[in-house]
Amino acid sequence: MKWKQQLFGMKAYKPGKPIEEVKKLFGLDEVVKLASNENPFGSSPKVKQFLQKDESNHAIYPDGYAQNLRTSLANFYGVDENEIILGNGSDDLIAIITRALLYPGVNTVMADLSFSQYWHNAEIEGAEIRKVPLKNGVHDLEAMLEAIDENTSVVWVCNPNNPTGTIVSDEALSAFLAKVPKDVFIVLDEAYVEYINDASYKDTLHYFRDYPNLILLRTFSKAYGLASFRVGYGIAQPDVIAKLDPVRAPFNNTILSQQVAQIALQDQEYIASCREANEIGKKQFVEFCEQHGLNYFPSQTNFVMFEVKAPSNVVFEEMMKRGFIIRSGAALGLEGYIRVTIGTEAQNARFLQLLEEVLNEQGVLA
Ligand SMILES: Cc1ncc(COP(=O)(O)O)c(C=O)c1O
Repeated sequence: MKWKQQLFGMKAYKPGKPIEEVKKLFGLDEVVKLASNENPFGSSPKVKQFLQKDESNHAIYPDGYAQNLRTSLANFYGVDENEIILGNGSDDLIAIITRALLYPGVNTVMADLSFSQYWHNAEIEGAEIRKVPLKNGVHDLEAMLEAIDENTSVVWVCNPNNPTGTIVSDEALSAFLAKVPKDVFIVLDEAYVEYINDASYKDTLHYFRDYPNLILLRTFSKAYGLASFRVGYGIAQPDVIAKLDPVRAPFNNTILSQQVAQIALQDQEYIASCREANEIGKKQFVEFCEQHGLNYFPSQTNFVMFEVKAPSNVVFEEMMKRGFIIRSGAALGLEGYIRVTIGTEAQNARFLQLLEEVLNEQGVLA
């Protein structure tokens, strides 16, 4: 068969082991997943109330234009409805962007380490991938500029960055945006934007007005606690949306997804309370790292990536046996580190207690 050559040797995205499987495997009653940066508190209670009395007709197709959610997002951000594209998660939007703009002969520039879906999708489209190392865990925007040439089609800025959790300064970002050639498409992926707590952070929404070659990506999967519903969105100028929309599958958000996202968006008090709780959890991790002399990246997200001074996969396995699923740094490209989603205060305390035990066993803290 006439498969795309680049598919040979490619592997599907490998999600962490599901909770039920880990329970069975290690005979555990309780397993906590701190691997995919979901909101440990779930979604707004208003979403749960709605779901209990939902009577929508699931036999009919959803509104492919997601009119109600679109209007809510447009009002929330003060943008026009034709400046929004909805995705089945922002993963879907990343795939749509790569499908629209990447092909053999062009290249795409991204940070290393950053979110895997950028290069995974670029590889499928047969584009050349240019990875630019982070500088102290932060996007090196100057080096990324240097990596751009006349064949560059898309540049990805993950802000805050997954897996390091760091942000770029507004100064560095605005200087970068001004220098990127006008025919290079800039993706500003802000999946964790609601968690940012750095006083120097300046809202980036306005950038799409100045730059017709820029899209902002945001999602309901993280702070909004709706990862299973798969809703992400992009904000860009109408010409960009009009180019991307034909690539989008016609009914890429379900009826329920559109409804719950709209309800969750209205409950900003809930988002603020999750951000506060996240800060408390973040402190628990930071204190642990400082107490034990472990390097960590200053996180502006709901996860922390830090040093364990032991083989990442061993720590990952040992924590799994003890009922915590995390991400091994080895799988993310940074051996000797782990990435852990910030859980509830009690989950974090238990996690850190068990981690201390594991690191003692490994001779790290002795
Ligand atoms: C930086 C970043 N972008 C995008 C996504 C995709 O999120 P979703 O497809 O659930 O919206 C993730 C998920 O982990 C992420 O970390």
